[in-house]
Amino acid sequence: GKDGYRHYMEKELHEHPVVIGQTLQRVIDPVSKAVALPKFDFSLAEVPRVTMTACGSAYYAALVGRYWLEAEARVPVDIDVASELRYRAPPLTPGGMGLLISQSGETADTLAALRLLRRSDQRIVSILNVETSTMGRDSDVTLGMVAGPEISVASTKAFTAQLSVLAALTIAMGQARGTIEASRAQQMVSSLFDLPSRAAEVFQRVADIQAMAVIVAAARDVLYLGRGVCFPIALEGALKLKEISYIHAEAYAAGEMKHGPISLIDKDVPIVVIAPSTILFDKTLSNIQEAKARGGRILAFTDEKGAARLSGIAEQMVVLPDVDAFVAPILFTIPVQILAYEVALLKGTDVDQPRNLAKSVTVE
Ligand code: M6R
Repeated sequence: GKDGYRHYMEKELHEHPVVIGQTLQRVIDPVSKAVALPKFDFSLAEVPRVTMTACGSAYYAALVGRYWLEAEARVPVDIDVASELRYRAPPLTPGGMGLLISQSGETADTLAALRLLRRSDQRIVSILNVETSTMGRDSDVTLGMVAGPEISVASTKAFTAQLSVLAALTIAMGQARGTIEASRAQQMVSSLFDLPSRAAEVFQRVADIQAMAVIVAAARDVLYLGRGVCFPIALEGALKLKEISYIHAEAYAAGEMKHGPISLIDKDVPIVVIAPSTILFDKTLSNIQEAKARGGRILAFTDEKGAARLSGIAEQMVVLPDVDAFVAPILFTIPVQILAYEVALLKGTDVDQPRNLAKSVTVE
């Protein structure tokens, strides 16, 4: 049941902290703090390339994973949505890793891509919520998330669980390849274990998210901006808004604005920015100022330090707890998904069963 929540989506949003915690305990030994993944029958140090694929939200999780795997584990990564990868005929080096992400493990496009990767002699690693699924059976290694059943068509907790597993895989690969030193690994692990309590604090910000939702609900089009690991979170926010509130939303890497979409901006197009005060904050800030100068209304997800710089620029802010930059995309996902939920409530749509969508897309 919904445990007293109005919708499954609301219930599942509230499960983020617990799901992140449970998933981390599954992939990182809570006592020794060492990453503890199932056995691979190949060496992570020797993987020449990772080819990642997924659909929808799972694809956005994969995009975050690409930033991590490239920057931290220094492994070359190719990535595409499954429905495209399938028909690209990518030349793949035998012995590479095919890394799939799926909540259901039954998505037809992802399954077809899995088969292509298999035929191309890739080692198949899947990050799945339903491990007994078809993808689970057809993989060499299954990395389970511990999200529990996800009923709402709009994916929520599965996304942060996927990121939690990807974070652990990144640490394991980086250690195997010698790009992540023991002290850095410790720091990454402790920032992950810090997340469940920081995630719980997000729910103290719901009133601020609701104030933002009022502005978004009145719009016909909304832009989402982010950079680096927060660009995929902007994509996730825009998808969630489209799915359940039927408001048109686009996400851009903030630096791309000036190459076109900035022409869309006026007072009627709210701009939602995902801007933790990480290394890319200043760059994002100057993109925000360009949008502001053209009459754009800025709605920002940031932290204390970011808020100090954004005051007077952002019309509404949601100020999140400070976390290590590594885990910021996981934390920032939560309020961005809550925003879509709050907008859908204001619009009165069928949150758990949005029109034209199915939970598991088993046709290509
Ligand atoms: O079960 P999967 O993770 O393979 O599903 C992938 C997408 O269909 C899914 O994430 C979809 O985009 C959601 N409705 C997003 O909220």
